[in-house]
Amino acid sequence: MITFELNGEAVEVDIAADTPLLWVVRDHFKLKGSKFGCGMGLCGACSMLVDGQSIRTCNFPVAAISGRKVTTIEGLGNPERLSALQQAWVDNSVAQCGYCQSGQLISATALLNNNLNPSDSEIDEAMSGNICRCGTYPRIKKAIADVAK
Ligand code: FES
Repeated sequence: MITFELNGEAVEVDIAADTPLLWVVRDHFKLKGSKFGCGMGLCGACSMLVDGQSIRTCNFPVAAISGRKVTTIEGLGNPERLSALQQAWVDNSVAQCGYCQSGQLISATALLNNNLNPSDSEIDEAMSGNICRCGTYPRIKKAIADVAK
């Protein structure tokens, strides 16, 4: 049995230790906001916060999460109470197809958790692992900068 905290609630799961965290969250806990993209740790679509850091979960074994805190896009806010970054995403009409955006928001949240006033280059560096096929990068950057200032 593997126990951890998921979006503020203590949870446990009885599953093979090497099951990627992404599939535990999506299939076992039915939280579908985190997406499967490359499956190789390259695109960032599957990003979740683990103890406040943005982690790619498609190749992250669930056993490594034991005793840790996981936050998914569902844990950042909700339609009635968006996080500041989620509101900035809306205000800047960031999403195009939207597929990568939960991962983008997770990485942006991790950035601002660690650095309330990131420079342009620090935003670029923190977000460089999250790929967007629609090319929404300028709007992502603007939304982060709006919250950071
Ligand atoms: Fe995990 Fe691409 S799906 S990094």
